[in-house]
Amino acid sequence: MGTALITGASSGLGLEIAWELAAEGNDLVLVARNADRLAAIAEQMRQIANVRVEVLPADLSTEAGALAVADRVSSASRPIGLLVNNAGFGLGQGFVGGGLDRELEGLDTMVRSVLITCHAAAATMTQRGYGGILNVASMTALTAQGTYSAHKAWVRTFTEGLAASLEGTGVNATVVCPGLIHSEFHERSHVDSSQWPAVAFSKPSTIARAAVEAVRRGHVVVTPTVRYRVAAGLLRMAPRSLVRRFAGPGLSGRE
Ligand SMILES: NC(=O)c1ccc[n+]([C@@H]2O[C@H](COP(=O)([O-])OP(=O)(O)OC[C@H]3O[C@@H](n4cnc5c(N)ncnc54)[C@H](OP(=O)(O)O)[C@@H]3O)[C@@H](O)[C@H]2O)c1
Repeated sequence: MGTALITGASSGLGLEIAWELAAEGNDLVLVARNADRLAAIAEQMRQIANVRVEVLPADLSTEAGALAVADRVSSASRPIGLLVNNAGFGLGQGFVGGGLDRELEGLDTMVRSVLITCHAAAATMTQRGYGGILNVASMTALTAQGTYSAHKAWVRTFTEGLAASLEGTGVNATVVCPGLIHSEFHERSHVDSSQWPAVAFSKPSTIARAAVEAVRRGHVVVTPTVRYRVAAGLLRMAPRSLVRRFAGPGLSGRE
């Protein structure tokens, strides 16, 4: 795949995708806000996986952060073979009564920056004639859990459209729609994860492996694990009134 740029590479799924790609011998560009944490991870990866690792600290909720990543993705002299848009978080608040700043932070990180970086990647990679884009959505794209669901539904639909536009160019786009994952996600968004049974959670390494395999095979939409493929099928068939009732804001588990 060449050099892979991964956003949200300092923890959880992004970190596991980075390790998965490093283990295959790919060089990496790691993006997140916490520069010290990225530097420590990069050093570990250089020593263990013997690959080249750059760090690009950036806040993707800002235009400057998203444009810095887009700029790196557009580089002709240091080409990016795979762009992974993984950075994201739960808002930890309801839309009604929640802060508008937090809403905009979520939209800018999980939608706007994805659009900006994919725009850069699609232009550069199609000109070059090869490359891949992996966007991280969620099972919640099929539910009705507030703006987070809406952002992930946007990522899924957007990536499907992008994949269709890229047909025949040598560039692929893939979207992964995981269910619950063990990561820092729930703690960071003040969600009580003990409300769900342990069996509902996947290891980030399992999801990372499935996502990278889907990219390699040129698949467009991947829902890892049988359990969540069944859940996705049921959610698609269920009347939306039922989905709103059983997978609406009440399921977000905010403390
Ligand atoms: N955990 C789940 O149950 C679950 C399920 C389905 C989908 N997902 C999706 O999976 C992706 C990864 O989440 P995770 O579970 O691995 O969570 P996580 O452990 O909290 O990791 C989130 C990553 O995103 C980075 N990040 C957050 N805000 C950022 C910003 N404004 N700019 C740049 N980087 C930012 C964080 O680093 P810094 O704080 O250093 O910036 C961190 O590296 C997200 O898109 C999430 O929506 C998660």
